[in-house]
Amino acid sequence: MIAESPCGHSKDATLMIKSIKPAPLPNPPPQAGEGTNDRCANLSFLLTDENATIALAQRIAARLKPGMVIYLRGDLGAGKTTLVRGMLNALGYGGRVKSPTYTLVEPYHAAGLDLRHFDLYRLRDEDEWEAAGFRDEFDGQNIFFIEWPENAQGLIPQADMEIAFEILEQGRNVEIHANTETGKQCLKQL
Ligand SMILES: Nc1ncnc2c1ncn2[C@@H]1O[C@H](COP(=O)(O)OP(=O)(O)O)[C@@H](O)[C@H]1O
Ligand SMILES: [Mg+2]
Repeated sequence: MIAESPCGHSKDATLMIKSIKPAPLPNPPPQAGEGTNDRCANLSFLLTDENATIALAQRIAARLKPGMVIYLRGDLGAGKTTLVRGMLNALGYGGRVKSPTYTLVEPYHAAGLDLRHFDLYRLRDEDEWEAAGFRDEFDGQNIFFIEWPENAQGLIPQADMEIAFEILEQGRNVEIHANTETGKQCLKQL
């Protein structure tokens, strides 16, 4: 048996998600004073197939807060857009969620939240960023999912959570890291 941290996850926990059914939350209610515990800053998931990615997306979607910034890292085809699509669908967005590969950003409104999905793979430079008016999007209310954040270093705010995908022979390994208190609160409830 693995010892659990106060936030309910074992240190460096790896959770296996195999089905689309939302898993029951494994953690006990938070206890006073545990909010800043750094042991709650990292979590990894083994996602055996696309349905597992969607199941993780549903769990994250239920814990999003206005103003959150989430970076999505990983190679092309790793599952970043699949996760965003899963989160938007979980929030009740019924339209098509297409990759903003050429538009760089797609806006959404769902569950009373304003969300922005960026894919910065094709962002050329700071001038393009400024000309597109992207700076104004970061108003503290919109929720951001940002693919290829490394292409806009210094232009986008710090991430509350970073989600990194690794392509495995079968499935994906996903590491989630929380940088801020908001991110840690979200992570420890997953
Ligand atoms: N856990 C998983 N295991 C295997 N395949 C997956 C998993 N999650 C998503 N996929 C598949 O991998 C591809 C990911 O594409 P996409 O989400 O567009 O990647 P990215 O946005 O990272 O470029 C899709 O074909 C999707 O069906
Ligand atoms: Mg993508």
